[in-house]
Amino acid sequence: MSRKTMFRSLLVTLLVAATLLSACGTAAEPVAEELAGSVEIFSWWTAGGEADGLNAMYVVFDSLYPDIEIINATVAGGAGSNAKAVLATRMQSGDPPDSFQVHAGHELIDSWVVADAMEPVTFIFEENGWLDSYPPDVIDILSYDGEIWSVPVNIHRSNVLWYNRAVFEENGLTVPTSFDEFFAAAEVLSEAGVIPLALGDNGIWTAVHLFESVLLGSMGPEAYRGLWDGTTDWAGPEVAEALDTFAMMMEYVNEDHAALSWDQAAQYVADGDAAMTIMGDWAEGYFKSIGLTPDVEFGWAPSPGTAGSFIMLSDSFGLPLNAPNRENAIAWLIVCGSQEGQDAFNPLKGSIPARTDGDRSLYDVYLQSAMDDFATNAIVPSLAHGAAASEGWSTSVSDVMTFFITDLDVTAAQAGLVQACVDAGVCE
Ligand code: GAL
Repeated sequence: MSRKTMFRSLLVTLLVAATLLSACGTAAEPVAEELAGSVEIFSWWTAGGEADGLNAMYVVFDSLYPDIEIINATVAGGAGSNAKAVLATRMQSGDPPDSFQVHAGHELIDSWVVADAMEPVTFIFEENGWLDSYPPDVIDILSYDGEIWSVPVNIHRSNVLWYNRAVFEENGLTVPTSFDEFFAAAEVLSEAGVIPLALGDNGIWTAVHLFESVLLGSMGPEAYRGLWDGTTDWAGPEVAEALDTFAMMMEYVNEDHAALSWDQAAQYVADGDAAMTIMGDWAEGYFKSIGLTPDVEFGWAPSPGTAGSFIMLSDSFGLPLNAPNRENAIAWLIVCGSQEGQDAFNPLKGSIPARTDGDRSLYDVYLQSAMDDFATNAIVPSLAHGAAASEGWSTSVSDVMTFFITDLDVTAAQAGLVQACVDAGVCE
């Protein structure tokens, strides 16, 4: 460890301690480190909840580095549906931001690391003593060629069914745990004039998102995992069944689904116009950002058929090669990976810390349940959020879903999915 980095680590520790003490009203102002200038942080967090979480991390950063101006470079569009293209253009033209949001797993490694676009961040983990602060499996999905390539801020769950509690009570319903129960409830809701399932697929990723939950619910975690290494047959009956189920679900979604975003769909549930939505737990952050309380106005359950399994994804921040303000970017990454940064960010974001030492008391009843599930469930990777498959494969599945969501042609969609696996080089 260089003297400078030792000094930086020590100073950060002292500053964080000073900040915490001062938050308790007992200690002095934090002392600024001598970093100045700016740092450009690139992400797609603009919706309620996700933007609040990001902002909370900025507040921590600002208290430690008051002389660094944060440039909040966001490109709206859930799941990076617009941001990723903007980022690619910037990276290709030699204009990287100082740090950017990237999903751990294939999105990080296949898109950026093997393309030699990133600097490893193993040294940040070592200098800050983080190697023991993260679950080995999380370190593993951030690693390639003996190095760690980004700093994770959270763990999100994709397979969650969110529901409006009052609507369920008024209609005498309990939360569905299987597809049969889901369709029975959907029938009751439809007859009562409530949209059973809210979907906002103006970005096609939400259809892929719904589909990954349906795949898992149709085949269970072992077979679902096998989809991504070629051991589960994409031409098999379980995939056909998942497509059938998805097509049936489309009969119960809002007619304007193609015009809405994920958060607008969540708003339908909040307003009671719709009863349910299947979305990652950033929806929890959204519900809270509009003043709702978990277990009061809204409830949750694993999406149908997926109890005991947790589709995971992790948001992380990386250090591009030639980051214009490298030292400031490292300061940002240290905040991202710190307990303080994560405990400021995640309670608002609707995610749980990637670290193992988050302060559980800061997390609400939903998030505590997610912590317990993450510790005990079968963990499987998300396709829609960069963990399960390469960006190219995930884009091919999106293309299939773009057609499928309108023509509901199961045979054609399955043929497209089979081909997508072949094109990805995973299936023969
Ligand atoms: C996901 C991301 C989440 C959330 C969501 C909607 O891809 O991992 O953090 O931002 O998109 O924007």
